[in-house]
Amino acid sequence: MTEPVGVGIIGCGVIANAYAIKIRAFPHLELVSCADVLHDRASEFARAHDVGRSPTVDELLTDQDVSTVVNLTVPQAHVEVSAAAIAAGKSVYSEKPLGLERTEAASLVDGAAAAGVRLGCAPDTFMGAGLQTCRALIDDGAIGKPVAATAFMQSPGPESWHPRPQIFYALGGGPVFDMGPYYVTALVSLLGPVKRVAAMSKSGRSERVIGTGPDEGTTMAVEVPTHVAGVLEIGDGVVATMIMSFDVQATRHRWIEIQGTDATLAVPDPNTFGGRVQLRRRGSNEWTDVIVERPHADQSRGIGLADMAWAMRTGRAHRASGELASHCVDVMQALVESADDGRFIDLTSTCDRPAALPADLAEDVFDD
Ligand SMILES: NC(=O)c1ccc[n+]([C@@H]2O[C@H](COP(=O)([O-])OP(=O)(O)OC[C@H]3O[C@@H](n4cnc5c(N)ncnc54)[C@H](O)[C@@H]3O)[C@@H](O)[C@H]2O)c1
Repeated sequence: MTEPVGVGIIGCGVIANAYAIKIRAFPHLELVSCADVLHDRASEFARAHDVGRSPTVDELLTDQDVSTVVNLTVPQAHVEVSAAAIAAGKSVYSEKPLGLERTEAASLVDGAAAAGVRLGCAPDTFMGAGLQTCRALIDDGAIGKPVAATAFMQSPGPESWHPRPQIFYALGGGPVFDMGPYYVTALVSLLGPVKRVAAMSKSGRSERVIGTGPDEGTTMAVEVPTHVAGVLEIGDGVVATMIMSFDVQATRHRWIEIQGTDATLAVPDPNTFGGRVQLRRRGSNEWTDVIVERPHADQSRGIGLADMAWAMRTGRAHRASGELASHCVDVMQALVESADDGRFIDLTSTCDRPAALPADLAEDVFDD
């Protein structure tokens, strides 16, 4: 093996902790530097995770030891930070969403290709044991021909647990852009790209109260729709029903189901890596548990980055790609636009389904 890929994190907030731990699990990655617009936060993060350097963002971008920038800033800063990193000649792996707007997301894909660097993006949960087991079942014909799907993310919203929840209710936030990436990416990985969408939306409340952190008790304005119900035509004509909501106090409709001509597949939470996979075949009165025996069943945020770094060495395409994420941004924007305009929207973007992961790989290996 050659030298590990040098990684620099920009954005040292909540999720950066999970990345720092996971990066350490891969010998082909090395976390060499971290930066944040709030310098103290980067210094503290460097101390907590034993990262050698915590320079300014600009200094990180000129660091020759950093070949790949992991962009863990807030969604509203993703495009600016990723574009600056690409301009500095770095490969980029961004947290989701890749951007808040389809033309910006597509321009990052084009910019990375022109610069000859890689662009990857979360979520990478579709590479986890649960969703890869579902993918293998569909690809092997276990449900027959996929006909329909349901995808439900219904919650009261993140302000009870996130210390800085304002981003979730500001423009560019909302359940579609925050949680939609998990569901849309999972559907595209399982069934193929989205062809057209229609949606309706509303906001249950115009203000929310922050439940924890430095601004606990403060009221914040809700600038985005917080309940979006859509229909999507996916892959080979599969009709999916999707609800993304921060207006639901309790529900019995969760996650994803794929309805096939021969069986229904119950897909685990696409915001996790493992989970319970179940099948119920035509004519059966029972759900059957499918054994999930694959790598990446536990918290594995960062495997998309690890796969990208692996692919940089072998020259193959990486799975959590900019093209996939850009298509997902297009789908999410179309859902919001359709709800605003009251019309179906045909998608102009598309992408390849990411390659399935072989079932029997070790945790730190990404190819046969
Ligand atoms: N928190 C989670 O559980 C979670 C889970 C999965 C994905 N994500 C995604 O991870 C990203 C970060 O979320 P978070 O919860 O860690 O947010 P956070 O607010 O805790 O952290 C974001 C950090 O980015 C920094 N930042 C903002 N703009 C910057 C800029 N222009 N340059 C440099 N630093 C900048 C902030 O100072 C902050 O430290 C988001 O895209 C979110 O969707 C979060």
